[in-house]
Amino acid sequence: MKKILLATMLLAAPFAASLAHANDEAMLGEARKVATTLPPKLLTALQEEIAKTGAEGAISICKDMAPKMGTEVSQQTGWKVKRVSLKPRNETRAIPDAWEKAALEDFDKRAAAGESPAKLEKGEKVGDEYRYVKALPVQSLCLNCHGPADKLKPAVKASLAQHYPKDQATGYSEGQIRGVISVRKPL
Ligand code: HEC
Repeated sequence: MKKILLATMLLAAPFAASLAHANDEAMLGEARKVATTLPPKLLTALQEEIAKTGAEGAISICKDMAPKMGTEVSQQTGWKVKRVSLKPRNETRAIPDAWEKAALEDFDKRAAAGESPAKLEKGEKVGDEYRYVKALPVQSLCLNCHGPADKLKPAVKASLAQHYPKDQATGYSEGQIRGVISVRKPL
């Protein structure tokens, strides 16, 4: 009897491990899907609004529409979505926690060493959650509001100063990592 039990355990162990692995892969796929749906939508909205009303008019897209889209995705998918940065603009919702900070620092190092920022991602089980972050590289459009402070339009500068007196999110150049989109879901 003991032998049978032992044999069953020996056989079951790798099976359980591969099930866990398959589950991790599924969570990674889900997380990646959730994290990649928002940025292109946001980019299109920014492009359209900048064309219509200028960069100063498009600030509300990042300020109000981005978090609203995040909340909607959370309600639809059960994944919590946010954006965080090592140099946050919004000090109430963009400050990374320890896990996000470590990933951001790792991404900056890897980008500096030549890895493509658009491909940088990390997903893993952390406690009783699955967590995933994906780097958001600075593109030329982003420079309207995240470029060097002395190159921003005066109207953009004024609006940013009004809404974000502690803004750290200027001075970027194309290809740098502005932050990450961070998603998490209980396992
Ligand atoms: C029209 C101005 C504008 C443009 C263009 C813009 N942003 Fe932002 N960005 C903002 C504002 C305003 C916030 C603060 C949002 C908030 O209050 O949560 C912000 C916040 C962020 C955040 C969240 C972290 C933080 O620091 O608060 C990330 C990440 C980010 N932007 C990335 C980008 C990227 C990448 C691009 C280009 C694809 C871009 N932004 C283009 C204005 C802009």
